[in-house]
Amino acid sequence: MRKNILKINQNVAPVSDAMEKYARDGALAFHTPGHKQGLGAHPLLSKLITRDGLRQEVSLMEELDDLHDPQGCIKAAEELAAELWGASDTLFMINGTTSAIQAMILGTLSPGDQVLVPRNAHRSIIGGLILAGAVPVYLQPEIIEPIGIAGCLSVETVQSAIEKYPEAKALIAVYPTYYGMAGNLGEIADLLHGKNMLLLVDEAHGAHLKFAASISGMPKQALDLGADVVAQSTHKVLGSLTQTSMLHIGSSMVLKAKIRKAASLLQTTSPNQLLLASLDIARLQMAEEGQERLKKAVDMADWLRKEINNISGLYCVGEEIIDKTNTFALDRTRIVVNLTGLGVHGYEAEDILRHQYKVQCELSDNYNMVFIISMADTEETVSRLLEVLQCLARDHGMPLMPLQPPPDVLFRPNNMAISPRDAFFGTGERMRFDEAVGCVSAETVAFYPPGVPVLCPGEIISAALIEAVRKQQEQHLRVVGPEDSALEYIRVIKK
Ligand SMILES: Cc1ncc(COP(=O)(O)O)c(C=O)c1O
Repeated sequence: MRKNILKINQNVAPVSDAMEKYARDGALAFHTPGHKQGLGAHPLLSKLITRDGLRQEVSLMEELDDLHDPQGCIKAAEELAAELWGASDTLFMINGTTSAIQAMILGTLSPGDQVLVPRNAHRSIIGGLILAGAVPVYLQPEIIEPIGIAGCLSVETVQSAIEKYPEAKALIAVYPTYYGMAGNLGEIADLLHGKNMLLLVDEAHGAHLKFAASISGMPKQALDLGADVVAQSTHKVLGSLTQTSMLHIGSSMVLKAKIRKAASLLQTTSPNQLLLASLDIARLQMAEEGQERLKKAVDMADWLRKEINNISGLYCVGEEIIDKTNTFALDRTRIVVNLTGLGVHGYEAEDILRHQYKVQCELSDNYNMVFIISMADTEETVSRLLEVLQCLARDHGMPLMPLQPPPDVLFRPNNMAISPRDAFFGTGERMRFDEAVGCVSAETVAFYPPGVPVLCPGEIISAALIEAVRKQQEQHLRVVGPEDSALEYIRVIKK
């Protein structure tokens, strides 16, 4: 376990300080951006970003540093973040965790490298494999039967994959899942490192875990369990602007310079300084009061979970699933409400909550809704959520129509004919999806959210998969990935 004794003064915000300094200096702007510090901005934009914000919305000036070769305020901010999260190096990423994950893969793997990937990987991981040319061996996560979703990889699954694929270079773990389930990452890290394999972690939903470390039962963050590289969505659960993430390097088994080179390939040469400042300020906020805020969020979520479980027809997932499902720990700030007892689909409940009660969940699937309780919530917001769930159960239940579990085939890997990269660059042709049985897909098909692929490039399309996808579409779940999002047609590799 990494010790985290803070040595640097965390009570500073170098990026926004530098922006303010440049604006205060009053240099007459003959440079980008075209709105010239707000002078030419449309009033709507000024209202949105504020005059102050626009005055500071410049980049590439000497005092604002260079994201691609940080030496000044960005370097200072990244060092502060590395110290706070306990990384040996941290990179600020402004194209979401998608680019952080892709830089992690491109910076550690080479064309032809075998890599172990859970089937419930986000589509950004498949994108990273296409970029790097690494070849996935898909592993089957545990299915959380009571609520019909994919959970974590078990230690046994990883152990047997390591034995079967000794040449594999790494495992990419999703930790925790969108639904807050965390596998036994510490043991998995030991197994992988015992064979010189890397542990790369998509911790998109776990940037807050560092600050919940002292709360009993909460999952530890991946860096503290031995992960080599970790991509975190600061924007998803902490206080930075959407699109901002961090890429943390945890070990000396990877080359920092190569990961920085990969990140540089994937990021803009005109980084938005507001985004960078927001990452730094989110770090400052967590340094100041992260632990207290997280403690409060977990306490409120625990209360809410208990109350939801008193509502007839609703089941809110709690720590009882841990023994049954290979889940090692549960992020209790994720409120997963299962609706099977009510006979209402997740997407129907989402619609009711949004339009009748003005409450928006994070995600819904066939049978569940997921709500995030973050450090921003208060007793009032959490009580309001409970109130509307009580109304939902009282007014909208149809218990005479039991819901069917989602088709198994959606969680299982399809047979792979060629690598994702070869499929991406292969010669494709359009074909009616319903007639594509036996063809090799050139595209990714996922339902969003959560963006977990049900078909990856290079995989063979089966009749069972087509049938299951059509059933999901009938339930108005949104397809993402293919050129034709209605999926009348799909691109397949030309025979
Ligand atoms: C598990 C997981 N990984 C990666 C991502 C990509 O993150 P971003 O939207 O910041 O690019 C998401 C987004 O929902 C996700 O859920």
